[in-house]
Amino acid sequence: MDNRPIGFFDSGLGGLTTIPPLAKALPEERIVYFGDTARTPYGSKAENTIKQFSMQIGDFLKSCNVKMIVIACNTVSSICLDMLRERFPDIPIEGVIDPAARRIARICTQNNHIGIIGTKATVSKKAYENAVRSYKDGLNISTVACPLFVPLIEEGIEDEEIIRLTVKYYLDDFIKNNKIDTLVLGCTHYPFLQKQIERLYPEIRIINPSEEIIYRITDVLEENDMFAKDSSCENTFYASDLSDNFLNMINGIFDKSDFKVAFKSFEIK
Ligand code: DGL
Repeated sequence: MDNRPIGFFDSGLGGLTTIPPLAKALPEERIVYFGDTARTPYGSKAENTIKQFSMQIGDFLKSCNVKMIVIACNTVSSICLDMLRERFPDIPIEGVIDPAARRIARICTQNNHIGIIGTKATVSKKAYENAVRSYKDGLNISTVACPLFVPLIEEGIEDEEIIRLTVKYYLDDFIKNNKIDTLVLGCTHYPFLQKQIERLYPEIRIINPSEEIIYRITDVLEENDMFAKDSSCENTFYASDLSDNFLNMINGIFDKSDFKVAFKSFEIK
């Protein structure tokens, strides 16, 4: 048994999409979440910058005495997983890409034309193709980066027409030219646009892999005998910029009495 919290982090709001499934599957667990809302988006930044930010956040989560770190961000998972595991050898660290790739390999056949959308960094690293191919060969995979999706979400833009035009800008030709029949949301922010994407392309199967990480977390806690029981610590959400959008999202996920929100900034070196 281990009542310490699980540390989650993302460049901003995106990683919050993994929290409701966790709260449902493992209600005894407590979390410390860090969203780097002051420095988002990560996906268009240089690899070294993303590595530096991730190390700072890893150090911070370690100082919060977390029992495990979940990289709730595809961009960071594709670039920094090994580096963080080396830096924090005593803490189990899991990223979101490998569990998602397992699911894709499980449910897609070679007849499927799979489209994977993500940030520029995730797409240029070929993180998903490589991970999916390690589970199943011969799948027909195309990828495209959609760099405007994250700023839209972080800004809390709700104007249907702006969202529709942005989604169409990235996906119309991509879906048509590659005959996509299955579309994977390869960024933890994108589930916030899932309904609009579904509405525009009703014939396409959309896969939101955000929940897959929960199975991996469960396995790690089980293997290490680390499930929480009657934990008295609070869920805490830190952000480097406490935007209204961030606060609204958290209010929408948890009961007000169930968590605390705090500010945490980093010196930019
Ligand atoms: N939520 C992120 C991901 O899953 C990062 C988006 C960004 O900051 O560009 O890739």
